[in-house]
Amino acid sequence: MSTPLWPARLHHLRRDSANPERLARFYGDLLDDRVEELPNGEWLVQGHGRRLIAGSGAGGTVPYFALALRDAAQLASYGAALERLGVARERSPSPLFAEGAFAVTDPDGRRVVFGLPLRVSGVQSRLAGRLQHFVCASARVPELLAFYRDILGARESDRVLENEEVAAVFLRSDPEHHSFATFRAPESRPDHHSYETGSWNAIRDWGDHMAKLRIPLWWGPGRHGPGNNLFFMIEDPDGHKVEFSAELEIMSEDAPFRTWPHEPRTLNLWGSAWMRS
Ligand SMILES: [Fe+2]
Repeated sequence: MSTPLWPARLHHLRRDSANPERLARFYGDLLDDRVEELPNGEWLVQGHGRRLIAGSGAGGTVPYFALALRDAAQLASYGAALERLGVARERSPSPLFAEGAFAVTDPDGRRVVFGLPLRVSGVQSRLAGRLQHFVCASARVPELLAFYRDILGARESDRVLENEEVAAVFLRSDPEHHSFATFRAPESRPDHHSYETGSWNAIRDWGDHMAKLRIPLWWGPGRHGPGNNLFFMIEDPDGHKVEFSAELEIMSEDAPFRTWPHEPRTLNLWGSAWMRS
């Protein structure tokens, strides 16, 4: 059966900092993107296929991420589907979505926003990388899985198991392997967000760009088991990780999930891994 969430794509997220302007300028340099202050005091970093809002708040936090639906009809039917499930909907906190957008709160207290992007003038970027997924670490992975899969309607693509316990789960809302994932950890926190760059050569170009900025790679390059994507990660000034990815797996809406063992090779087929638990 089809899910009313399908298709939805990560459109933007908000990253908070004690100094949002500094954070925004870091991302502006990192991505070679335009930085502007919004009338409400937030900062927008925008490039082709990617937008990040830097706000004032606790360093390293991500108070919400926002998924764009296909059109007004899908947004209305998705809202009605959540209504039938008794899900409380709040006003969208995002300045980048048109009237009619709404937010829900997940079991970790993070908001997920659904809406339609306001029309913006075409922004070009020197380096290609569409904002593609957001990942959190959580002390409540089973609750998050139940919420995102059974309430929000995401499809489960892969799960990582340790002694029957879910150590990580990857969920998709369109044919791309995951737009959201969560890793088991002692404390709930944001983990990383990712830009899908299009090719291995683009990963090379991003790596050369990091070299010019004197930003060391934090993990990778490597290839993830779940998603089969090539990647490397760097850290932003608050320790939040930023991933550059390519070749992310494509799956049909009805493809069943697979399972992986909880071991370093699952997280990096090429070698060493960042184990969150
Ligand atoms: Fe990722």
